[in-house]
Amino acid sequence: MCGIVGYIGKRNAVKVLINGLQRLEYRGYDSAGLSIVENGELVTFKKKGKVAELVKLLEDRNFDSTVGIAHTRWATHGEPSDINAHPHTDNSGKISIVHNGIIENYHSLKQMLISKGYTFVSETDTEVLAVLIGYFYEKTKDLEEAVRTALSEVQGTFGIAVLSSYEPDKIIAARRGSPMIVGIGENEFIVASDAAAIIQYTRQVIYLSDNEMVTLNRESYNTKTIDNVVTNNIIHLVDFDLSKIEKGGFEHFMLKEIFEQPQTIRDSFRGRLLVEEGEARLGGLLPVLDKLREVDRIIITGCGTSWHAGLVGEYLIENLCGIPVEVEYASEFRYRNPIIRKNDIVIAISQSGETADTLAAVQEAKQKNATVLGIVNVVGSSIARETNAGVYIHAGPEIGVASTKAFTSQLVVLSLIALFLGRMRNLSKIEGIQIARAIKELPSQVEKILDKAEQIREIAREFSYSRNFLYLGRGYNFPVALEGALKLKEISYIHAEGYPSAEMKHGPIALIDENMPVVFIAPKDEIYDKVISNIEEVRSRKGRVIAVATENDERITKFAERVIYVPDTLPMLTPILTVIPLQLLAYYMAVELGCNVDQPRNLAKSVTVE
Ligand code: M6R
Repeated sequence: MCGIVGYIGKRNAVKVLINGLQRLEYRGYDSAGLSIVENGELVTFKKKGKVAELVKLLEDRNFDSTVGIAHTRWATHGEPSDINAHPHTDNSGKISIVHNGIIENYHSLKQMLISKGYTFVSETDTEVLAVLIGYFYEKTKDLEEAVRTALSEVQGTFGIAVLSSYEPDKIIAARRGSPMIVGIGENEFIVASDAAAIIQYTRQVIYLSDNEMVTLNRESYNTKTIDNVVTNNIIHLVDFDLSKIEKGGFEHFMLKEIFEQPQTIRDSFRGRLLVEEGEARLGGLLPVLDKLREVDRIIITGCGTSWHAGLVGEYLIENLCGIPVEVEYASEFRYRNPIIRKNDIVIAISQSGETADTLAAVQEAKQKNATVLGIVNVVGSSIARETNAGVYIHAGPEIGVASTKAFTSQLVVLSLIALFLGRMRNLSKIEGIQIARAIKELPSQVEKILDKAEQIREIAREFSYSRNFLYLGRGYNFPVALEGALKLKEISYIHAEGYPSAEMKHGPIALIDENMPVVFIAPKDEIYDKVISNIEEVRSRKGRVIAVATENDERITKFAERVIYVPDTLPMLTPILTVIPLQLLAYYMAVELGCNVDQPRNLAKSVTVE
């Protein structure tokens, strides 16, 4: 949700921190701030607004400090303001912290501290933690011990970094339910909530576990649990390069990520398709092979776009494998006391691997003894580590807040899982070969759709007057209708709803008049004729129809005002193609309306709070 970066070493800390904040800004962008120790004094600068505002505040000032912490915020407690921005300091003004997550018992801790004479200036839960650390420091005169004791009093989630002029050659960081990664350089360390802030300096990292803390000195580090047990961490190599988190000539990350899809789709199936055998090889599932053989029911869970991918997964797995599938919002699953039976498998889908609701759903399922698999993008993320096995989607870092390439890669991985499970059951080799061949074709087919970007841009121009949109699709493409509508509303603030096409007549049809654009996802499949009937229903009420259809489908031009063609593929793979024009349509509408595409209002890239 928010972004944290901390640096200790030999470089100019302010430069490293600002650079880190700029790379993390996609995670939260309502205020930003930093603390450094300069000439033995703790100094803090913070500002409401984007990182650029903080940069302006620091203009014309020179700093020599080589240690500091910084934060870019997405407000939870307290509105975005200079005062509520992080870092927050204790009452002595000598201890500063940045925090992601929520301190659930902040109210009682605050009352306890007020009763002892401590004071507060902000409305945040984070300031309570800062003051609590200060309180324990007065007793222990040891920063590490003060942080450790304070954290053991805290209920809730945190990723924190702490800096103090009491012990200026030190940064302490810790996590519970909110990621913290330590980059290990030569006599320098950079700690961050996201590898994007680290990889410019080093690729060697350790991932903190829940309830673990790290103390970084200039030349060494040590880790321990919050219960004071020393821990050992394996050093991992982060494998993405800088170009993957830069715009590379595109106007926005979202557009870059839409255009990356031929490659990201290829990366999702690379080394996993045995075309001539008609099989998928998924090493990540080997640890649970026996469970997969016996599975009676699959429950897929996730949020937002990942939940939409899960809905496509339901059609895929039921059709190819004959295994009953239920798809549930993670936020509902976690509090619903779900029934999990012996041979059930839960699959959690998450781009970031850090979504709080999905992580809690995984924990709930594990608590009920389910086998839990992850379909995750970010390697080493909390959900990836919490699940019993899984398949990475390998889409590379997704920076645009609106998920695009992660969705198509999630669909590729779900198709591979359906193929894998299907071949363990009744799916024939011939069908398997057909599916594998069709998957291999996808990257070049996506390229063909991307070539139509200009046509889609014109459609966006033509329809940008509209304040409402309907998206309709059936079967595999019903979830695509939901996804198209979500893309449009989150980046262009236009109200859009997705429905199964046939549901329209049960209510939404009342909305249709000459001002209502209706986007039909209508590839040539077994229910094409039914969708055409639904289009006719809209046309006869003067609705304006934009159709996404299969190449060479002339018939649809009689019914739709605008047609965007996608190449022909198997019905089960159509969502991977039909969603691309909808991503572009949402993108160009938002650009047309002058919206901030990569940082839409009120949103953040990964939702690590409830
Ligand atoms: O990182 P996750 O896939 O778990 O995130 C889930 C949703 O928060 C995410 O898909 C959200 O809906 C996006 N803004 C959609 O574009």
